[in-house]
Amino acid sequence: MTSLISIADLATSQIEGLLDLASQLKQEPGDRAAGRLIVPMFFEPSTRTRMSFDIASARLGANVIEFDPETSSAVKGESLRDTAQTVGALGPDLIIIRHPRAGAPEAVARWSGRPVINGGDGRRAHPTQTLADLLTMRAHFGDLNGLRVGIVGDIANSRVARGLLDSLPRFGAEITGIGPPGFVPRDLPWDMARTTDLDSKLGELDVVYLLRVQKERGGALAYPSDAEYHTRFGLSEERSQLMKPDCVVMHPGPINRGVEIAGSLVDSERSLILDQVSAGVHVRMAVIASIVEGLL
Ligand code: NCD
Repeated sequence: MTSLISIADLATSQIEGLLDLASQLKQEPGDRAAGRLIVPMFFEPSTRTRMSFDIASARLGANVIEFDPETSSAVKGESLRDTAQTVGALGPDLIIIRHPRAGAPEAVARWSGRPVINGGDGRRAHPTQTLADLLTMRAHFGDLNGLRVGIVGDIANSRVARGLLDSLPRFGAEITGIGPPGFVPRDLPWDMARTTDLDSKLGELDVVYLLRVQKERGGALAYPSDAEYHTRFGLSEERSQLMKPDCVVMHPGPINRGVEIAGSLVDSERSLILDQVSAGVHVRMAVIASIVEGLL
């Protein structure tokens, strides 16, 4: 494989290999992408993903030439296909793309003839976020086998949740989807437990993984207001008393404090949220190094 589009495309042994390489590169980045040219193309807002790809590239010695849709010919009506062909002809070694349309990354790989890393496409996939989450859990718990993970919130619209569902069960972790029925629909094709009752489930979990309501993907339609959502499904200080003492809190960011989670819990001892951000740099180094070295 020369591109990374979805975590579902990776064998379990490949995922393990990438996590091991990420831990190794954390200690010693080396210059494994020295002289390589990487072009990030972000068609959706991003802080963590974009910066950590840039930082991972820099740590590996690569040059980053950013494509900015706002100041590109995309605003003059150039199609994604023509843009991708043009960028491909400019000769980068690797393209990183985030796009609101599911399927855009593999189309760009085809049109550009270059390897692509998917930095998030619509509701579908966000494989480097998944790797960051797996690395964070593995570093904290030592082993993913038997881990009980509750994913709380807008699973229906979340590419982050899909990545967890496509990977965690392969390592023996159990997932429960928690939220209003519109957020945890029956017709999602994954084998997971489902409940609308957060309070009764909290005491059993090792990880509470919170999601932002994906308002830009229609997520707000499933509940009346932010305040109401917080009352029913938000991880409040009071509700957190129901958690096991060693249960941790995760969130891919961006966080809406006071909606899916109380601000005090973001900043608490239980939170692995900033560990996820740091792990994001290490796993992106691993993916970039593996692709430019032809190892993936
Ligand atoms: C997420 C994303 O964009 O998929 N954030 C991220 O990449 N860390 C989640 C979100 O936007 O809610």
